[in-house]
Amino acid sequence: MSPDAAELLELASSAAQEAAELLLSRHDQVRVVETKSSPTDVVTEMDGPAEELIRHRILAARPADAILGEEGGQTGADSQVRWIVDPLDGTVNYLYGLPEWAVSIAAEVSGTVVAGVVCAPLQRNTYKAMLGGGAWLHSGWGPAPVRLSCNTGVDLADALVATGFGYMAEQRADQGAVVAQLLPRVRDIRRAGAAAIDLCSLAAGRVDAYYESGVHYWDIAAGGLIAREAGARVGGLHGRDAGPALTLAASPVLFEQLHDLLAGLWTGSAGES
Ligand code: IPD
Repeated sequence: MSPDAAELLELASSAAQEAAELLLSRHDQVRVVETKSSPTDVVTEMDGPAEELIRHRILAARPADAILGEEGGQTGADSQVRWIVDPLDGTVNYLYGLPEWAVSIAAEVSGTVVAGVVCAPLQRNTYKAMLGGGAWLHSGWGPAPVRLSCNTGVDLADALVATGFGYMAEQRADQGAVVAQLLPRVRDIRRAGAAAIDLCSLAAGRVDAYYESGVHYWDIAAGGLIAREAGARVGGLHGRDAGPALTLAASPVLFEQLHDLLAGLWTGSAGES
């Protein structure tokens, strides 16, 4: 029997909430313990413990499941259910005391993401989606969950476009060259610093589009479902899936416009892998 997406979402939500509380307990005094792809690609002392907590909660409830986590990699195999975990998306914001960071957890069944949660505690926002069940914002600012729809009918020239930049100098130079060409053709650019939150902001109509190269699956698995369930198209260049080469998300018409523009601008390490 196929696992119930509602039960997976419930487990993801409670694990994300607990991890967010753990992260909140240290967000004003956190230390860097490691760097990854470059000296500015940091791991704080809380990334590991937050992922450990999430893994522990998931495996306590569902011991046979596989988990792919940013810090611990892939564990488990041959399981119908795989969890995709970013214990702390927006690590640099967390380090600097900025509020745009989140815990992101998605559940795949047989390779398809069926449930996703992005919990951004300092924004008092938790975004949730189930495949076919819509995308919902549970906000500390309002009493009841609100169903999300991305903005539609926005022309490229009027679009507020979220993006992000990788941690490696050459990649950033290429990404900067793309942004320089894009900026005169859109309303403006936003760089929040957490890809999962960017995708949820798109779902909530707070930006009109999002694109970025170099993202990992754990950055976009939950947010991608939330954006799609809010009516957005999420994909890569030339019909490919969203992924490290490019993740692009917007309402379907704007997706096409931005896709065609980016396809002409994309070069070097900013683009195809
Ligand atoms: C990063 C953030 C950032 C994006 C980077 C990601 P991390 O994730 O999502 O917004 O621009 O591409 O790597 O390092 O904070 O988990």
